[in-house]
Amino acid sequence: MKQTPLPEKTQYLNTDQAFQLIRQTKELLAERLVILGHHYQRDEIFQFADFAGDSLKLSQIAAEQKQAEFIVFCGVHFMAESADVLSTPDQKVLLPHLDAGCSMAEMADLDQVEDCWEILRAKLPHPEKLVPINYVNSTADIKAFCGRHGGICCTSGNCRQIFEWVWSRDPDAVILFLPDQHLGRNTAYAMGVELEQMFLWDPTRNNEPVGAEQFADSRIILWDGSCCVHQEFTTEQIEKAHAEDPDVKVIVHPECNFDVAQSADYVGSTEQILNVIRAAEAGSSWAVGTEVNMVNRLKNEMAPRNIKVRLLSDTACLCEDMSRIDPAHLTWILDRIGEYVKAPKDVELPNKITVSEDIKRDARKALEKMLDITAGSK
Ligand code: 13P
Ligand code: SF4
Repeated sequence: MKQTPLPEKTQYLNTDQAFQLIRQTKELLAERLVILGHHYQRDEIFQFADFAGDSLKLSQIAAEQKQAEFIVFCGVHFMAESADVLSTPDQKVLLPHLDAGCSMAEMADLDQVEDCWEILRAKLPHPEKLVPINYVNSTADIKAFCGRHGGICCTSGNCRQIFEWVWSRDPDAVILFLPDQHLGRNTAYAMGVELEQMFLWDPTRNNEPVGAEQFADSRIILWDGSCCVHQEFTTEQIEKAHAEDPDVKVIVHPECNFDVAQSADYVGSTEQILNVIRAAEAGSSWAVGTEVNMVNRLKNEMAPRNIKVRLLSDTACLCEDMSRIDPAHLTWILDRIGEYVKAPKDVELPNKITVSEDIKRDARKALEKMLDITAGSK
């Protein structure tokens, strides 16, 4: 645990008191403060977000918030790191709970990635064609690795666009995709890459000899990482949903495994799922394979339009990392910011996410390249 226990002042507030303190601090700081909230945040937190979005939208918004001195990120650690990488030197990015990490991001460690890179460069027939692409759900040092090696970031919302960009520049490029094997596989397959042209890299076995012949036809090397929340969805749940209601449409996130993505009616990132269901016809029914907080909010939002929305799985499908951001921690961090602005020399700001300058420089290359391509400016 990196997060220190909360002081009594904020630990024992009831919900009304906590919400009042949050509102007061937001009023006091006005445009000096911006709160960003990922769609997987619980309702009590989500209601205070000035901007809500998926990873792509939030990274674009974070890059635009030049007027805000304090960016409070209600999401997980890698998102706050990205916001810090894209922020100006005067801005401070704060994560209300330091233990809000991401198990998928932790599956790619820099030493392992460097080993993998060296082995691939030694074994591939055309090592110069290897391009690292990393899903933003990764630590800043992995993003920096990609930036240093001519690579680029992507999110679940623009993964296909980024693959297209790479392969349109060089149809023979070999992508090293980190850290989510499922997003990489689902995206490449949807673009016509055969499963036989994908190689799964298991970082725990890289001391074993890997023969060049194993990569001979590979167009993409997939890092063996995954999201525990999206692995809760299964093809059996999809069959059951269709058996119970033949008209139900199943939509799942591309972090789900290949068979689930293949069996679903639609596959889309968080923001794409919202857009598809918001545009759906009255009377339609949807079973959704993504995090429960978002699905429940969507269910309530759609009910007045007679669009039925439910979670695909009967299991919890809760991102425990995201849910560490609770009202007590949000209240605490805002209280500390409120005290800090009154006496900046005497109060230390806790939970500042600060990426070192050398990592920032290289990570920014990979992130900005993604933002440029997504904005259509390159
Ligand atoms: P997106 O926000 O890119 O849809 O990713 C989902 C997720 O798992 C975030 O951690
Ligand atoms: Fe990480 Fe999955 Fe949680 Fe997203 S939903 S933060 S990928 S564990």
